[in-house]
Amino acid sequence: MTYRRDLGYWDEGRDLVDAAFYADALGRHPRVLPAAAFRSLRFSQLEDEAVWTRDWICVGAHEAIPADGDLLPFTVGTHGVHVQRMAGGIVARFNKAQHGGCRTVPLQCQTGTKTKCSFTSCGFSRDRGAIPASDLGDGTPEMHQYLGLRPERLLTAHVRSWGPLIFVNLDVAPAWPEAELTTLGGLGGFFGNHKSRRSDDVWLEHGANWKLMGQALVAGEATIAGNPVWMFAAATLSDGTPARAAWLFPNLVLIATDDSTAVMTLQPTGLGQTLCRLSTFGADPRADRLFWRDEIRVRAERAEAEHDDLARWGTPYRPQTVGAALPFQSEAAGAWMQRTIAARIARMPREDFPQPLYQNPRG
Ligand code: FES
Repeated sequence: MTYRRDLGYWDEGRDLVDAAFYADALGRHPRVLPAAAFRSLRFSQLEDEAVWTRDWICVGAHEAIPADGDLLPFTVGTHGVHVQRMAGGIVARFNKAQHGGCRTVPLQCQTGTKTKCSFTSCGFSRDRGAIPASDLGDGTPEMHQYLGLRPERLLTAHVRSWGPLIFVNLDVAPAWPEAELTTLGGLGGFFGNHKSRRSDDVWLEHGANWKLMGQALVAGEATIAGNPVWMFAAATLSDGTPARAAWLFPNLVLIATDDSTAVMTLQPTGLGQTLCRLSTFGADPRADRLFWRDEIRVRAERAEAEHDDLARWGTPYRPQTVGAALPFQSEAAGAWMQRTIAARIARMPREDFPQPLYQNPRG
């Protein structure tokens, strides 16, 4: 079992937590992050510690769970989590069994790639879509592996809404970035009465690390990249349409034209694999979804090419890069992503935390 934070985060001969690992990727002329950030299992475990369990993670839209009892699973890092609509509002909880039906996590599930397993409630397996409550309410067999017999005893997580979207945070007492989100909403015009209808999700999977996917999806010309929570870009789509794009770190990317918004929630399903759940808001969201799928394919191809390059950097697959200096970061979105990741690692608590694991947070 290598998943132990007390052993530190080391790989490829580097301390992944040390500021020196990020030094060349910051500043006025940053280079790209070292390749370990895109290919190391240990780095993905560090992200679980520093990002996925501490930031607000978008898990989907309210419309995905319209009725009382409906449940939406979403694995956050290696934590099996769901949100459920209840009479009093949305509740977020850790699933009953964090590693499904297994006593410990088998080696084949510790590779960083989400396993295809019947226990879709597990933090190491792939998710399933929303589960509607049936005549049985939330007593459906599909929900049992999430809720068990006593859902009220499950560990809860923080949940908030921004427009039509639901966010969860697994940290103990996280601050909700109200002011930052208000500013972003004003810049982007992503949601509103003129975009009141939502399409169903379509799940698209691409062969690139989630950070490179975010960078490629949000790419644009004029960027505002001074905020620690989001970056914004004026973008031109591949057919020439002007658009506005935003990346709400870590896993929500929005791209909007005047009458349609694409909502993409990112989820790492492997070190070099990202699941992108796409839904659209607008007057005719189902028709718009085809348009946005094409745009995402074009942008994702760039991310996949970048991932191929970086994942092989310094290896015999790219012998000319062995011992070479990393290339300069040419994209504003990439530079922002690097600064943001470095800041998240730097803010990670280093001290022991006395509260017992798996106990409801006390603020
Ligand atoms: S432990 Fe393997 S899928 Fe859950």
